[in-house]
Amino acid sequence: MPYQQDCTVLNLQALNSHTYELLLEAGGIAEEARPGQFVNVSCGEGRLLRRPISICETSAMQLRLVFEVRGAGTEWLSRRDIDDQVSVLGPLGRGFDAEDKRVLFIGGGIGVPPLLWAAEGAEHADAALGFARADRVILADDFSRVCTRALIATDDGSMGVHGTAMDAANRLLAEHTYDLICACGPKPLLKAAAEAAAKAGIPCQVSMEERMGCGVGACLVCAVPLRDKNGQVYYGHVCKDGPVFFAQEVVFDD
Ligand SMILES: Cc1cc2nc3c(=O)[nH]c(=O)nc-3n(C[C@H](O)[C@H](O)[C@H](O)COP(=O)(O)OP(=O)(O)OC[C@H]3O[C@@H](n4cnc5c(N)ncnc54)[C@H](O)[C@@H]3O)c2cc1C
Ligand code: FES
Repeated sequence: MPYQQDCTVLNLQALNSHTYELLLEAGGIAEEARPGQFVNVSCGEGRLLRRPISICETSAMQLRLVFEVRGAGTEWLSRRDIDDQVSVLGPLGRGFDAEDKRVLFIGGGIGVPPLLWAAEGAEHADAALGFARADRVILADDFSRVCTRALIATDDGSMGVHGTAMDAANRLLAEHTYDLICACGPKPLLKAAAEAAAKAGIPCQVSMEERMGCGVGACLVCAVPLRDKNGQVYYGHVCKDGPVFFAQEVVFDD
């Protein structure tokens, strides 16, 4: 059951020129959250729609969110001060099932943050994380802390593997075995992760991003085609049935 709560801003810091880490005092939301779930954040008076942001981590009733400034809502959020109140609805959606498994985490850009907490709960975690260039890399130290191997890839080769997260992931897949792949990022990356998992004969969970309204399954804004066990296509909600799905449920080419 989600809570709607006014949460106190404990800290807000820039991770790079357009990415911020927000620490909120979030009582029940933090206590009940699971890795891969998200919260719906109210981003200023006059903006009716809350903005969905994944939970990066929780600790001691605190929520750690990492977000990029994309438009007016996230820009408003990036200008909060310590002790400001932010209205948060959550925890929402279904998360990853990485606990007690050997997992390869594949993340691209701002899809990287929700994988961190899931990696902490895995029996064994490796990560392949892709960014545009070195000055866009985020959370590298955090993933090094919780993963046995954390490979960074950059599109321009300015840090780590020259290429995408999938190029880094393929190096790990060539040398190690996993029970599960968990991926979050742009749709082409999710599709490539799903294909790599199918080739390796292991399950894959992907976290999907869709525009949202209510965040709780009531408005249909986030409806997407999904595939059931018999291959039949039906419509489900990313906010309620996801955002994390098993890859075989996802219709990648709609
Ligand atoms: C389940 C989920 C988890 C997410 N987790 C994160 C995260 O951890 N960090 C992060 O930086 N971003 C995350 N996003 C994307 C984030 O919600 C958008 O960047 C944000 O809503 C943009 O709002 P805005 O007002 O700044 O931009 P605007 O473009 O002005 O937004 C206009 C409207 O479009 C919606 N919208 C715009 N872009 C997106 C998008 N990419 N996805 C969904 N709705 C969008 C907004 O919510 C708003 O209703 C997530 C999205 C989803 C669906
Ligand atoms: S956002 Fe309203 S149904 Fe998903």
